[in-house]
Amino acid sequence: MGLVFCWGLFACLVTVVTPSATQCPDKDLSIVGGTYTLTRRFEEDSVLHYQCPAGHYPYPHKKRQCRDGAWDPKPRRRPVQECRVVTCPNPLVLENGNVSPYQPRYYVGNVTEYACHSDYTLRGSSTRRCKENGKWTGVTPICGRDTDHCPDPGIPAGASRTGHIFNIDDKVTYRCDRPLILLGSKQRVCTEGGQWTGKEPECYYDYTYDTPEEVSEAFGNSLGNSLAVSEFEGLNRTQFGRKIQLRKGGNLHIYIALDASDSIDPDDFEQSKRIVKKLIDKISVYEVTPKYEIFVFATDVHEVIDIVDFYNNPDKTLAERLKQLDESQYDDKGDASGTNIAKAFSTIHGKMTFVKQREPEFDDIRHVIIMFTDGVANMGGRPRPKVEQIKELIMKGNPEREEYLDLYVFGVGEDVQQEDVDEYVTKRPKEKHFFILKDLENLEETFDEMIDESSSVDLCGTIWNYDSTNPEEKRIKHPWLAEISVIRSLGQPISNCMGSLVTPRFVLTAAHCFNFLDTPDKIKVIIEDGTSSSKKVKNLILHPKFNINAKKDKGISETYDYDVALLELEKNATISRRIRPLCIPCTEETSRALRLSGDVTCEKHRQVLLNKQLEPAAFMTKDNTDIKKKNVTIKLRDARLACIADAKRVIKGVTDNEIAKITEQFLCSGGTEPKVDDISCKGDSGGAVVMERHSRVIQVGIVSWGVADLCKEKGEKLPQSEEHTRDFHIDLFKVQDFLRKHLGKTDADYTPLNFLS
Ligand SMILES: *[C@@H]1O[C@H](CO)[C@@H](O)[C@H](O)[C@H]1NC(C)=O
Ligand SMILES: *[C@@H]1O[C@H](CO)[C@@H](O)[C@H](O)[C@H]1NC(C)=O
Ligand SMILES: *[C@@H]1O[C@H](CO)[C@@H](O)[C@H](O)[C@H]1NC(C)=O
Ligand SMILES: *[C@@H]1O[C@H](CO)[C@@H](O)[C@H](O)[C@H]1NC(C)=O
Repeated sequence: MGLVFCWGLFACLVTVVTPSATQCPDKDLSIVGGTYTLTRRFEEDSVLHYQCPAGHYPYPHKKRQCRDGAWDPKPRRRPVQECRVVTCPNPLVLENGNVSPYQPRYYVGNVTEYACHSDYTLRGSSTRRCKENGKWTGVTPICGRDTDHCPDPGIPAGASRTGHIFNIDDKVTYRCDRPLILLGSKQRVCTEGGQWTGKEPECYYDYTYDTPEEVSEAFGNSLGNSLAVSEFEGLNRTQFGRKIQLRKGGNLHIYIALDASDSIDPDDFEQSKRIVKKLIDKISVYEVTPKYEIFVFATDVHEVIDIVDFYNNPDKTLAERLKQLDESQYDDKGDASGTNIAKAFSTIHGKMTFVKQREPEFDDIRHVIIMFTDGVANMGGRPRPKVEQIKELIMKGNPEREEYLDLYVFGVGEDVQQEDVDEYVTKRPKEKHFFILKDLENLEETFDEMIDESSSVDLCGTIWNYDSTNPEEKRIKHPWLAEISVIRSLGQPISNCMGSLVTPRFVLTAAHCFNFLDTPDKIKVIIEDGTSSSKKVKNLILHPKFNINAKKDKGISETYDYDVALLELEKNATISRRIRPLCIPCTEETSRALRLSGDVTCEKHRQVLLNKQLEPAAFMTKDNTDIKKKNVTIKLRDARLACIADAKRVIKGVTDNEIAKITEQFLCSGGTEPKVDDISCKGDSGGAVVMERHSRVIQVGIVSWGVADLCKEKGEKLPQSEEHTRDFHIDLFKVQDFLRKHLGKTDADYTPLNFLS
């Protein structure tokens, strides 16, 4: 059963098969300015879909279906079936202000401007453009005086509002112009907290879809609110709408329900599976390790991943579980004739009830339900009562527990009963839980585009998407980078080093950057936030065992054991897109970055990070004004032996045992095997040696010393290692006690890292 594509009436005639008595006629099906497709040619049940170019929509019908040998709706001469230019909902609803230009209709591409009468101030967009999907860019403009308890909630384009007083318990109600449908809250109430309940309504035409960009942004934001964990202070939470409740590593259950009814073919099914995996992948970036229930549903429900199994087999990894998803077959879904959304929800309710019996802390669990559906709930009764049961179970009639449940629906295609679905999804100010996508391609694109960073700015070591052509943006690639200089008295050289932000309060660097006269007031730390102003240092904490002269009497002129220092800043750095800590080993924060769950040990971190003979890593260098990355390979196990032999060449008169002892605390890079490494220069000292795992950056070492200085000439090219030149970096696993003592302190006035026990 293939699709028949018709490029205009003529092309269609070519593909026509001889009509038989049970077939629908091929007459009068064309659309002016567009094309159509047929799902089963002219056979019974075939669906005809009209397609129009971007910025246009089919009118008066989107589709017809062949039933009993006739098209429904029946093709007519008038009105002509055509592609019309998309219009946007009426923007002239602005109160206490002017909209220009005035037009009877606003077409795609038209731009409007909004200005308020004197005495009123504008909130929202002052300019909006009508988009191809029939929505305005930006947000609803509102001219308010904001003298009441709640701010003026405004009137969305295409809507009308009753209610003009905005004090506690006052209500406003909305309607959309016909034929638009209202999504969001029809009624909103002004609460004591000065906020309106529910979600601002939006008026959708039946041709209005959410674009992948819109969905990824809105869903990313809402989901981020559910998943992000407040780790560091300094984050302005108000911009994300609501407060985050989830405790770090807190309990989260995610239910994913996948519609596999008749309208989905095997290819669609595979695509849906891919989409679910992408979603899970995105979620794994957050510092939560959720338990999942995943099932497909049609007439019946077929379970793929059982949430109860997370309790029965806690050691099974998520990857192992996801294999079950890979292995699930299109045919597993059983009878596919129906779309039993109600049963999907009662399945979720059943699972929740079961978990509740096993889980003493059930009330602390947050629940996220994500449903993908392409169709009409056509059996099993209305979904809403089932959803109410779930709400009752989780929220227990207490509006304050509202945040413990998020219900999202992704409606795909034109059969979605938008108003029905909108009735039961979660509604919260500034969040969106119901998305209407044109097709599965659009849905997949949504998850491809979903950037993980939307509200996860407080996660360690996250790499941001950035624009590499914009020099301003370059620093975003390493937002933990700190440049350290010590200003000494006249005649003394300035000491320049690198460091890394490991919490908002602490910069990690090398101890040899400082001498005993260097007091905190002489130390300048620059963490690039666009201002280039330096951060003041409150405390310089050197490792107590660091002593560069420790082995002088043994003929070793400099000793770099315990070459580690922490700079406590006077103020917490403000975590933002430009500034954030990286991850350091043996903390719970890093376990999550490494996606390790269960009983994770420090040793496990080492296995994940430093297990192979050769592990690619990097550190940063300042090259004139430019920050550049130096690529190295850390040599471990047998590969380390040559590295150490090279150290022995320069540290004369030591035995094999002694050199092993000297280098014990260090990770070694350099040399030309397996490839030529970049080599460190003087100013690189103290810099973080980092690795990347799952798009997160983890520091494993601190640049400390090298066997030769190859950095005499400053050129365009970074200095390259020679065969026997080696660099040694303090191995962070070997200085855990020091890090834990200062960064893990729980009784200080800064947020500690949670070190693994
Ligand atoms: C609005 O869009 C229509 C259709 O594209 C166009 O013909 C018209 O000139 C536009 N009006 C303005 C004021 O830009
Ligand atoms: C938080 O953000 C809001 C809006 O972006 C701003 O008005 C407010 O001043 C910010 N608060 C702090 C403490 O930065
Ligand atoms: C360093 O390695 C990265 C890949 O990890 C590569 O993209 C980059 O070009 C390398 N830089 C240099 C200077 O070789
Ligand atoms: C830094 O953050 C901690 C933890 O949120 C807070 O208690 C402390 O007051 C902040 N200190 C400064 C100086 O900003």
